[in-house]
Amino acid sequence: MTKATAVAHANIALVKYWGKRDEKLLLPQAGSLSIALDKLRTVTTVELGGAKDVFELDGAAQDPSRVRALLDAAGISEKARVVSRNDFPTAAGLASSASGFAALAVAACAAAGLRRTTGELSALARLGSGSAARSVPGGWAVWEGESARQVQPPQHWDLRFCVALCAAGPKLTGSRDGMRSSKETSPFHAAWIEQCRRDLPEALRLLEQRDLPGLGALAERNALRMHADALAADPPLLYWEPATIACLKELQLLRGRGVQAWATIDAGPHVVAICAPADAKQVETRLRGVSGVKDVLVCAPAGGAQAVVPF
Ligand code: PMV
Repeated sequence: MTKATAVAHANIALVKYWGKRDEKLLLPQAGSLSIALDKLRTVTTVELGGAKDVFELDGAAQDPSRVRALLDAAGISEKARVVSRNDFPTAAGLASSASGFAALAVAACAAAGLRRTTGELSALARLGSGSAARSVPGGWAVWEGESARQVQPPQHWDLRFCVALCAAGPKLTGSRDGMRSSKETSPFHAAWIEQCRRDLPEALRLLEQRDLPGLGALAERNALRMHADALAADPPLLYWEPATIACLKELQLLRGRGVQAWATIDAGPHVVAICAPADAKQVETRLRGVSGVKDVLVCAPAGGAQAVVPF
């Protein structure tokens, strides 16, 4: 086969990856835990052959150099035409690189007829973007070294993740530069990494027990500590917009009224609220009412990246 299509979902980390121990190999300083999100989906088709590399994302031609680097790492020397489509607004700065590189790794290996294990595909996707390693196994995934593994399937726990879009444009500092700068200049970075090493085993225990107040509060603390590390960088990295803080306050208010919902925030302005399915409508409505929030996507857990069998 010389043409294949794959589907992958973006993921949100509850214990974040923010710091590399190896810049070239994209290996993390500490382990992270994430859940794949059903509505944040990328579909990628790779066709091998042709005269030059072409990469098209949501209908627009892109620089194919990062795509080529991943193909080279997979041992694919043929030129490729890669057509990728996100089911969610890429321009809004949602983490599309995780689903994008996971779908690319799976589609490229399928197109080249290379049989690879999930672990090998995860390690390959990692070379495109660290968090992409977790989108290959999907579900609840832990990434500590070369590759990520699924520690619980998506069915383990029916939760909702309300993604509040708090800005329109792409973020100012990408995560690659942001985490390098935090590692090199933030006086809090070593403490942040130590904290993640304590948070991961605790988060896995709370996940196993399906303890929402426990895991929700841990995830919110972990995200705020990652941002504390970024804020302490020189120059400081402030990823938030006024709507980001307003969402945090709204969730605090809701908790005061007994609604179990906690926030996590990646290296950008958007807030992801974690809650039970029964509370999702109320959380969504409250976040939609926050000044500056453009939209709210309510997601459920999703599985791993998969090659799509043609009809
Ligand atoms: O995979 P990258 O290089 O885009 O880094 C992702 C970093 C965070 O989204 C902030 C945290 C995480 O663990 O996903």
